[in-house]
Amino acid sequence: MRLILIGPPGVGKGTQSALLTARLGVIQLSSGEIFRKEIELGTDLGRMAKRYIDHGELVPNGVTIEMMAKQLRADDVQKHGFVLDGFPRTVKQAEALDEIMFEMGIQLDKVVSLEVAEDIVLERLTRRMGCTRCGEIYHSKDKPPHREGLCDKCDSPLFVRSDDQPETIRERLRVFHEKTAPVIEYYARTGSLQRVDASEGPEETYAQICGTYAK
Ligand code: AP5
Repeated sequence: MRLILIGPPGVGKGTQSALLTARLGVIQLSSGEIFRKEIELGTDLGRMAKRYIDHGELVPNGVTIEMMAKQLRADDVQKHGFVLDGFPRTVKQAEALDEIMFEMGIQLDKVVSLEVAEDIVLERLTRRMGCTRCGEIYHSKDKPPHREGLCDKCDSPLFVRSDDQPETIRERLRVFHEKTAPVIEYYARTGSLQRVDASEGPEETYAQICGTYAK
């Protein structure tokens, strides 16, 4: 399966990608996670990306496309398929992805647009915590860890992302409307877009993505 998950910050792209990976075996390619790893490792790419991420701005298209093209060409990704989380985020990135896939002789199965009201997104982001080691995502109210501040899966400490501050969240939402909403229209024109109401719980959202949802 080759899938794109697209949607505003905090809508649940990472949560759904993790479910798709665990249950269908596809490889999660999260541009945000890859940047955060580079930041942690202190690489040149990480230092450059941090300047944009901490202000809620997008990392420039050139480096982002180059980084994701490399990921898409990896052997395990070609073998198991992928779920793209956070890429493409501009029309330029979507056009570049088309070219990369054309060169590789592969096609997308679908593009899922996760949609939710802005007040829900704000609530989700201000209550999010993530594991420093395995990346498991928590929510202080709806999905709290069993032991405060520690990951249920690997016992490592949890952290709050530096870009989950109210002012930065507002800027990320503004950037989403300006730069990423046109990408949703881009895919709507190709007929491959599936709109999913992501306001219910993770399992209901997952069932909608897989087409097995029953109310
Ligand atoms: P990135 O890491 O991609 O962040 P984002 O798109 O802003 O999305 P988030 O990771 O914040 O949210 P999510 O939708 O994954 O939600 P989650 O599942 O965690 O990008 C970060 C930055 O990197 C960007 O701002 C940019 O600077 C840079 N960047 C990345 N990609 C780039 C690109 N292509 N080009 C240029 N720059 C790029 O869930 C959020 C919370 O809600 C959690 O607490 C979770 O438990 C909870 N939750 C999830 N689903 C549900 C549900 N259904 N019901 C109740 N709670 C839920």
